[in-house]
Amino acid sequence: MDIHLRLLGKPSETGRLFMTAFVGIICGFFLGISFPTLSLSKMNLPSSLFPSIDLTYIDDKYSGLSSQALFNAWASLKGNTGSSLQLQANDDTKIWVPTNPRGAERLPPGIVVSESDFYLRRLWGMPNKDLSIKPKYLVTFTVGYNQKSNIDAAVKKFSDNFSIMLFHYDGRTTEWDEFEWSKRAIHVSVRKQTKWWYAKRFLHPDIVAPYEYIFMWDEDLGVEHFDAEEYIKLVKKHGLEISQPGLDPSRGTTWAMTKKRDGTEVHKDTEEKPGWCTDAHLPPCAAFVEIMATVFSRDAWRCVWHMIQNDLVHGWGLDFALRKCVEPAHEKIGVVDAQWIVHQGVPSLGNQGKAETGRAPWEGVRERCHKEWRMFQDRMTNAEKAYFKVKEVDVHNSTTH
Ligand SMILES: *[C@@H]1O[C@H](CO)[C@@H](O)[C@H](O)[C@H]1NC(C)=O
Ligand SMILES: *[C@@H]1O[C@H](CO)[C@@H](O)[C@H](O)[C@H]1NC(C)=O
Repeated sequence: MDIHLRLLGKPSETGRLFMTAFVGIICGFFLGISFPTLSLSKMNLPSSLFPSIDLTYIDDKYSGLSSQALFNAWASLKGNTGSSLQLQANDDTKIWVPTNPRGAERLPPGIVVSESDFYLRRLWGMPNKDLSIKPKYLVTFTVGYNQKSNIDAAVKKFSDNFSIMLFHYDGRTTEWDEFEWSKRAIHVSVRKQTKWWYAKRFLHPDIVAPYEYIFMWDEDLGVEHFDAEEYIKLVKKHGLEISQPGLDPSRGTTWAMTKKRDGTEVHKDTEEKPGWCTDAHLPPCAAFVEIMATVFSRDAWRCVWHMIQNDLVHGWGLDFALRKCVEPAHEKIGVVDAQWIVHQGVPSLGNQGKAETGRAPWEGVRERCHKEWRMFQDRMTNAEKAYFKVKEVDVHNSTTH
């Protein structure tokens, strides 16, 4: 108490404050006992608190509604509930729609808009005339300004059917306006974050719902032999829900699966080094693409988004788990050979790490990548174990390699 009072100010001021409060409480108490029958509603809802509503004005604006209905609504707002009949009518005007999205049950379904898009609109004219084209696909690049010429070349491989979105990890955005396309792109600038961090926060499935395919690409991809429209034709033709363009084999790839092949449009499986694949239908021999240039169908993305962990920002291990989102995975995940890219392997975000005693920034980043991979695997394994335990199914039946 003492400390509290002293915090409030000098003793004399404190005393005055205390007295004021005390007198207020006493007055309130006597007021309360002097008018015990005063009804709460009259106390709390003096009519002067409500703005006076000009009914004729409302009638003009919403000519679809009868003024009688409006008057009833207005009357109930004023607490004018004289008869039980009116009370009943009151309840009927309350809305509760359990099938609405969670939290929006009080709204009439006709006004609920549960999905959005990245379409740019004008500030004038009629809203329905805003959009001359509604892009059906979305491409995102996670970029630093140093890679601007590479990104400029890449963007030009994507037609007007694509919304373009840049995630800036170096905080530089306005510089990009030297490119004409930059003015219609969506720029999200948050420093030193990763592709999967942005994706989790800015590509919620309900936000990107109008896009049939979503390209989530790194910044260091060479696109000389790539055309996005052609790519989508092949993906549709071969039923790929999750895919990537083949990688130039001359650059040396980590996985056999993502190597570009000659003479085919797509491939969905591969041979690996002996002992790498326990099952020909499982990663890294099938049902597998990497996370550098991934392309998701709308439905696949809705699943994958939920699998992304908020804290595992590098996304390592995600490539091995993508197959959990499509069925059968070895048919719906594949590599497009006829439209292929070059992984230039420019160290970029790695250099945004922190230099620690005797170690380059990228070393700490790399170490975290490996850690995250293990953590992700553990979480997935535990989540599946927990699920199957509940289902009383033998855990060994669920493969979690
Ligand atoms: C955009 O999509 C439409 C419909 O699929 C297609 O006809 C058109 O050629 C596409 N635009 C470009 C530039 O490829
Ligand atoms: C695995 O599950 C199948 C049914 O899905 C069941 O028939 C089989 O016995 C299970 N295997 C083991 C080892 O429990």
